[in-house]
Amino acid sequence: MSVLVTGGAGYIGSHTCVELIGAGYDVVIADNFSNSSPEAIRRVGEITGKNLKYYDCDIRDAEHLGKIFAENKISSVIHFAGLKAVGESVQKPLEYYDNNIGGTIVLLEAMKNAGCKKLVFSSSATVYGDGNASPLKEDMPTGETTNPYGSTKLYIERILQDIHVSDSEWGITILRYFNPIGAHKSGLIGENPRDIPNNLMPYISQVAVGRLCRLNVFGDDYDTRDGTGVRDYIHVSDLADGHVKALKKTLAENGVRIYNLGTGKGVSVLELIRAFEKASGKKIDYKIAPRRDGDVVVCYADADKAMLELGWRAKRDILEMCEDTWRWQKNNPEGF
Ligand code: NAD
Ligand code: UD1
Repeated sequence: MSVLVTGGAGYIGSHTCVELIGAGYDVVIADNFSNSSPEAIRRVGEITGKNLKYYDCDIRDAEHLGKIFAENKISSVIHFAGLKAVGESVQKPLEYYDNNIGGTIVLLEAMKNAGCKKLVFSSSATVYGDGNASPLKEDMPTGETTNPYGSTKLYIERILQDIHVSDSEWGITILRYFNPIGAHKSGLIGENPRDIPNNLMPYISQVAVGRLCRLNVFGDDYDTRDGTGVRDYIHVSDLADGHVKALKKTLAENGVRIYNLGTGKGVSVLELIRAFEKASGKKIDYKIAPRRDGDVVVCYADADKAMLELGWRAKRDILEMCEDTWRWQKNNPEGF
């Protein structure tokens, strides 16, 4: 039996395929390569020594999805496919609702038709909005999302709860990621933003490699230990391992479960810059810029529930996250 990984050529999907294969699962990928390259899949093959089966498929294409279920024995799905740029989602809300929510509905329909009722879904800490104080716990209220991207995650979480109410045979695990950074130890796969990065870590690493000249630090007058924003950065391979643990639970039990995947520790922008400088031996040129609209000040997880119920905890520290990001960036200055 195989796991269908939607968006498996992407940043988190490719790392999760490595861990799934390492844990003995057979993997089938469906990706439309709108934000990735088949080269990522080839490199997952190089790391694992397996030839991966993949389909160039848009998950909104019901017929194509039906064919994938017909051609493979798929017992479960890990669903990464979606658009993820916050700013773009404000400019193009319909594209985001269509791709993320529309795509998920078509996928759920195809799963139902094939009798496959086991799903792990990529959600985000963004569903907590800015109304809760960190550490964020899974039972805190959600709903104050500030952009269409965040809203798609929130609505999909609700759709998944409704599906289970309609049919209790569904086993669904919703994973709320904090800030994934880092890359596979091999330096073969990593994050590959198509445009100028919006997120901090890819921006820093592109400054280090000389693609960008200087980082803007958005605000140094917040009420934090050094005045800059605090986030819960998690190594993408730890995150990937969390999916393997979540999948095992999902296959064993019905019901809907929600877990934070974070380290439980907050790191400031300046602390991340310093750690990256140490890991890479490069000086990161930065200047203090105005606060970014819509930014939360502090955001980190309470990660105990995943430890208690999945036996999962993030293992890698911030220095290792920076070293692995740097190996990937240095070996692949222009990405894939
Ligand atoms: P990514 O863009 O690298 O990966 C997403 C993949 O989905 C890409 O390969 C893309 O080509 C594919 N895709 C998009 N729309 C598709 C469609 N309609 N049909 C088929 N394939 C499609 O992003 P990522 O960072 O790996 O994120 C994976 C998931 O995790 C996303 O759902 C994202 O919203 C969520 N997430 C990411 C972060 C983060 O910081 N990276 C944080 C929280 C949640
Ligand atoms: C962003 C998204 C969020 C998504 C998350 C993980 C926004 C508003 N939010 O959040 O929805 O779930 O990524 O992908 O985009 N920073 C700088 N300079 C930069 C970039 C960032 O100083 O060039 C600072 C930010 O102000 C913040 C920290 O770095 O304090 C982290 O920023 P970022 O990597 O964009 O992640 P989030 O803000 O957590």
